Amino acid sequence: MSTLFEPVRIRDLEIRNRFVRSATGDHAADEKGSVTDTQMKIYKALADGGIGLIITGITFVHNSGRIMPHQASIASNDCIPGLKKLTKAVHEGGAKIAVQLFHAGRAALRSFGGEDQKILAPSFVPGDPYFPYSGTYRAMTEDEVWDLIDAFGDAALRAQEAGFDAVQLHGAHGYLLSQFLSPFTNLRQDQWGGDDLEARLRFHKEVFRDIRRKVGNDYPVLIKLGVQDGFPGGLRFREGKQAAKALAESGFDALEISHGLRGQGPGATEFRVKIDTVDKEAYFRDWTRQIKKKVSVPVMMVGGIRSYEVAEDIISKGEADFVSMSRPLIREPNLIRDWMEGDRHRATCISCNQCLERLIKGKPLCCAQTEGRKKG
Ligand SMILES: Cc1cc2nc3c(=O)[nH]c(=O)nc-3n(C[C@H](O)[C@H](O)[C@H](O)COP(=O)(O)O)c2cc1C
Repeated sequence: MSTLFEPVRIRDLEIRNRFVRSATGDHAADEKGSVTDTQMKIYKALADGGIGLIITGITFVHNSGRIMPHQASIASNDCIPGLKKLTKAVHEGGAKIAVQLFHAGRAALRSFGGEDQKILAPSFVPGDPYFPYSGTYRAMTEDEVWDLIDAFGDAALRAQEAGFDAVQLHGAHGYLLSQFLSPFTNLRQDQWGGDDLEARLRFHKEVFRDIRRKVGNDYPVLIKLGVQDGFPGGLRFREGKQAAKALAESGFDALEISHGLRGQGPGATEFRVKIDTVDKEAYFRDWTRQIKKKVSVPVMMVGGIRSYEVAEDIISKGEADFVSMSRPLIREPNLIRDWMEGDRHRATCISCNQCLERLIKGKPLCCAQTEGRKKG
């Protein structure tokens, strides 16, 4: 059998194959952020569909970092019973599951937290043409930085208690950790920012230390890292690559390589459209391949992977240890099982991003094409 279907490890965690469901928000938790039946169905279908490791959608670690009304929460202990049911169902399907720990930073939803709602960021960036949200936000105080570090650590401890096999920090796509890393959004002149890359990575490293202290030495701690922003003046790949190397050296157990702050149009984001030929697949391949050469921890490649042959080529050439997919598995949660059983059809996802449009409108996750067909 292809090496794609051989078990592989992250630390001591054995994963049944090299396929990862990249984190995918589902807008299907209840209003407090607890697990619902809709989510149970989504995750069960993925696990039964043959995936090795599922990374949940963005799960907020602190109320100030919430981005959607029906977003999953790991910010308080009352979420643990629901999450336990979720991890149990996934394990029964033979898959492993990591929770994606998230804080939106300046992108946080304005409607939570009452009148003194704090929208927190590393810095305030005056006249930022790339800031796509309404309303204002402010730079965190030193105490607030430490409070959020503590919140990430506490969330990881809850994850462990709820039966997750690992945690993944969301360090991409323009949210809090991305905002710390980017020279465009981190204008701080203290130990948390400025021109020095090391300082812009301090938040990531302190979060890692706090998590390690709380969950012990053996629990896998992963990060999805945005290694380049989508506009001039943002993070450049040269620094993004150095950041990936520094984080691997500081102890993170696996890296998933993605986009940083979004620029204009889908070409300057993590979810590109019109991936209709093999050449357009795996659009972060070059970044990931370069980083893979520099680090000794497992690396996941994500972004536009649609064909079995492309996945096999990536793994057989050693360009990544895992291939990670989001949109194809919304439409076909069974895709990996099909591939394993010899049906190697190209993913039928047309990368139209209407799944995303639905989420933005507040509807739960599903493939808009499939939904349209069902109605029609
Ligand atoms: C509907 C939708 C929700 C997503 N939610 C998340 C998320 O919660 N966390 C995250 O890191 N990326 C999220 N992403 C990005 C995907 O994980 C992935 O990086 C991107 O879609 C490219 O992979 P793909 O071409 O296989 O879809 C989301 C993408 C889509 C389309």
